[in-house]
Amino acid sequence: MFEKSLFAERLTGGSGIETLMNDLGHALAEGGGNIRMLGGCNPALIPGVSAVWRRRMEEILAEGDRFDRMMTVYDPPKGNHRFALALAGFLQREYGWNVGAEHIGITCGGQSAFFYLFNLLAGEFAGGRRKRVLLPVVPEYIGYANQGLGADFFSGTMPEIAHTGPHAFKYRVDFGRLKVGGDIGAICVSRPTNPSGNVLTDEEIAHLDTLAREAGVPLLIDNAYGEPFPGIVFTKIRPIWNENVILTLSLSKLGLPGTRTGIIVAHPDIVRAVTSMNAIVGLANGTVGQAMVAPLLESGEIRSLVGEHVRPFYERKAANARAWIAQYFDDALDYHVHESEGALFLWLWFRGLPISSAEFYERLKKRGVLVVPGHYFAIGSTEAERHASECIRLSFAMDDAVVEDGIRILAGEVARVYAGA
Ligand SMILES: Cc1ncc(COP(=O)(O)O)c(C=O)c1O
Repeated sequence: MFEKSLFAERLTGGSGIETLMNDLGHALAEGGGNIRMLGGCNPALIPGVSAVWRRRMEEILAEGDRFDRMMTVYDPPKGNHRFALALAGFLQREYGWNVGAEHIGITCGGQSAFFYLFNLLAGEFAGGRRKRVLLPVVPEYIGYANQGLGADFFSGTMPEIAHTGPHAFKYRVDFGRLKVGGDIGAICVSRPTNPSGNVLTDEEIAHLDTLAREAGVPLLIDNAYGEPFPGIVFTKIRPIWNENVILTLSLSKLGLPGTRTGIIVAHPDIVRAVTSMNAIVGLANGTVGQAMVAPLLESGEIRSLVGEHVRPFYERKAANARAWIAQYFDDALDYHVHESEGALFLWLWFRGLPISSAEFYERLKKRGVLVVPGHYFAIGSTEAERHASECIRLSFAMDDAVVEDGIRILAGEVARVYAGA
């Protein structure tokens, strides 16, 4: 019907993230039916959190012309100035970081922040040079995979696999193999990592920070699940920031995915560049999330929201999911669960699985369980592809009964697959 540009070929050729969001949207919008939706990345509706959003909406309605301004006035493309001041003040108080409003930029969700940042720092450069984004721990977030506007955009490195228990493992950055060559434009990690629930240690992050500075490229830390919010981190960590770090945050996993609010904390030059791109692509950002959250940053209430509601909720969900796996899985099978250190997922590795993760996904779907097959997360690394196609990601954010039932069905299907049935 029409000829597609090369740009369109890239963005319309099908992607893991599109399939995932469609599966998620249909399963949730259609009420789920008999589907156990363990595939998405939707945050849970947590009663204590939901009560705060309802209260904030009432406060906004009661506060003079606040509601009218929020709904009827475009923010500048950089984001709302009160929100930037509130966040900068909070980060100064919390961590002593030397940040001001000029270090903070808003985008329509973290997802678009990455589209801008990746294509700002990698791709085609003057004189025909090309640069790539280095992902030091692949399997890495499915949503990055198709964002680069160029071929061979990512260079992924497979981590070391440390066996931490009979059915448990953990990824560690393989610094021996990590090469930050002249063709690298940025280094990027999600912390906690989607899909594995790994949380890079402070030492690993410090080492990556040093490598990035030595190479003269920014270190992107994707904090979609991290500290200080949403704080879905079950280990003790110290977040870092300096003018070579681009920290991205999001209000989604705090419970506001519908407001599409992404945040970058970066050198003002980076913020200005992203703001320019945002003005062209999106004009302005959603106002609602920023209006809801700014006072929680100013008062510090966000700390109790995270510490008393969000983190304990997901920590309990993670523990339950692990317990159901131990209960339903046949101990004799060669399965391994990544240490659950944060985020909403368990990452399961079925060593020597006789079929691919894509085929396994289809078999599970027929039995009414949706997961995400591992191969989608193997970005820029053929070695990681082999490993990840023996893995699946499952979310534990849904109701307990759905998660338990899904794991029970999964356990039966895994046993049949290993048995060659
Ligand atoms: C690691 C990671 N980064 C970024 C995002 C983007 O989230 P959003 O666009 O809702 O802020 C997600 C969403 O699931 C994610 O898991």
